[in-house]
This record gives sequence, structure tokens and C-alpha cells, in this order.
Amino acid sequence: MIPPRRFPRSRLRRLRVSKAVRALSAEHHLAAHDFIYPVFVHGGRQAQEEIAALPAVCRHSQSSLLHIAEQAITAGIKALALFPAIATEQKTDDGREAYNEDGLVPQTVQLLKKNFPELAVITDVALDPYTTHGQDGIIDADGYVLNDATLAVLQKQALCQAAAGADMVAPSDMMDGRIAVLRDALEEQGFVNTIILSYAVKYASHFYQPFRAAVGSAEMLKGDKRNYQMQSANRAEALHEASMDVSEGADILLVKPAGLYLDVIAALATTCHLPIYAYQVSGEYVMLKNAARFLSEPHCVLEALLAIKRAGASAIFTYYALDAVQWLRDEGLV
Ligand code: PBG
Repeated sequence: MIPPRRFPRSRLRRLRVSKAVRALSAEHHLAAHDFIYPVFVHGGRQAQEEIAALPAVCRHSQSSLLHIAEQAITAGIKALALFPAIATEQKTDDGREAYNEDGLVPQTVQLLKKNFPELAVITDVALDPYTTHGQDGIIDADGYVLNDATLAVLQKQALCQAAAGADMVAPSDMMDGRIAVLRDALEEQGFVNTIILSYAVKYASHFYQPFRAAVGSAEMLKGDKRNYQMQSANRAEALHEASMDVSEGADILLVKPAGLYLDVIAALATTCHLPIYAYQVSGEYVMLKNAARFLSEPHCVLEALLAIKRAGASAIFTYYALDAVQWLRDEGLV
């Protein structure tokens, strides 16, 4: 008989020994359906436009958007999130273009749903692309964003998006009470299946700068958004925000940014029982893009996305969506 050995009885390296065994023992996986692709659209002009602040991301015209939507669907991506770059002359103090039924967003939603009924279309509920001051709501004489006056406008905006056929309306404005107000309005108008994807936990982050350049609110923005978006020091407050949105009728909760707030995603995923999404924001994207000079971009991006999934997000908004699907297919990488 071979005498019993004391060490080692368990070799954890056994489950790391080959690609096949590693795949079988992986606790989390990334797949195309995990990704939501944020896309920018602009009105009027025919061509797509590059965005200096967001390398390799474009502002789309209607036709280039259809092309990219088709590419996304072919890749297995299930949802696009639409963000409009509104012409300066359409911006006003009160952001009323946000609920123009013939505006850029409703028109684009209709176009997408007509061509690709199977694609889920997500629209942003917030006023920043539409206001001359770049804030997400209506401001008073001191520039303070008025909560309840803003709710009334957000309600009109969300109804207009739902009527155009948006599958999910996604309030990203951080006003108090907006989920209840939107839910009531949607129910009352018969939009009983419109999903509310709440940006329940949105931090006042400096990582949104490239996005603001993309939608053209950066140069308009007066002040910052710290009196409505959350401060990055807080986590308990995030749980409170989330539970309020659950009780007000949200269907899905989102944490934003993602990579620097994995603890928040994890805390929400264990305490809330709604799906938790996360947004790898524009600043996270440009960090990785620029690091590509020094690091292997595909490996690092997939690792960053997997970390977000492992923390507990069931879907991820990412500007890397199309690349990530391609890289996942690339045998050598995973
Ligand atoms: C605004 C909105 C922002 C983003 C999504 N919706 C910016 C902001 O709050 O200023 C940021 C997304 C990104 O940085 O990629 N309602």
C-alpha cells in the first residue's frame, strides 16, 4: 500500500490544467447577449461623424445607424442604447425638444423598430442633450436643477419614447421620485410592457467627459451635476437608491460607471432581486483605448468586462460591444 501523504491532497491547479478544463470550471462567461451597444445619432446631416473625444466611436446618420444595427444583430447583440446629438439651434432652457414626437429620438426608434423588430431599443430619459445649459433637468435662476418641475418633463419625454416603440426607457437623470412618476404615466397611457431600466445608482463621475463631448453637452454645461448624481464616497446610499426604485416600479437597475464601482454592483446583486446592469462609461472606454499602446487591448478589455459580470451585472453597456464579440470568437484569446 502506498502510505498516505499529508500534502497536497487538493491541487487547485488540476482545474487549470488545460483550456477545456478551464472552460468547464469557469464560474462566469461573457457572451454577445451580455452587451448593450450605446450608439450616438445626429439629425440632418447625411454622413457619420467621428468623435475626437471617443476614438473609433461615431455619431451616426440614419443610414449608418441601420448599418451598425445590422452588424450588431449579426454579432448576436440584443440591444442598442440610443443617445442623440441635438443641433444647437434645437436646444432650449427647458429642453422641450426632448418630447417632440417628430424629434430625432422618436424618429430613430421608429426607423430601428421598423427595420429590426427583434432588436431591443433603449432610450435615455434625461434633458442634458436638449438643454442650453447641459443639465439633466429644468434649472432655476441660480442654476439649481428643480426636481419636481423636471419630473413633469421627463414624464412627457418617456411617453414620447414609449409611443415611438422604445422597448426600454432608461431614466439617467437622478431626480427623486422619477420611477414612480414614469411608471404611473406609462400604465395610464397603456404602455404596460414598456420596461423601465433605472439608472438607479449613477455617480457624479468625471469619467463621463467624452460622452458629453459626443452628445454636445460638454461645452454647454454650466457647473457640475453633484447636487443630483451620487457622490463616489457612498455605497449604503446606493442600496437605498436601489430599494426606492424597486418600490417605485423599476424593472431593471443600473450602476454607472462600472469598473470603478464593482463593490456597488456586487452589493446590489446580493441585496436586490431585479436584474442589475452596469455601464462601462466613456471614460473607462478611453482609458482602455489609450492603454492599447502599452497593453493588449483585446485581453484587457475582455478582462475588464468579465470583472463587471463577475461582480454581478447581468448585462453591460459598452462601447466595446462589437469588438468584444469579435474577440470572444477569436480562439487564441480566451
Ligand atoms: C446623461 C448621461 C450621461 C451618460 C449617459 N447618460 C452623462 C452625464 O450624466 O453627464 C454618460 C455615459 C458615458 O460616459 O459613457 N443623462
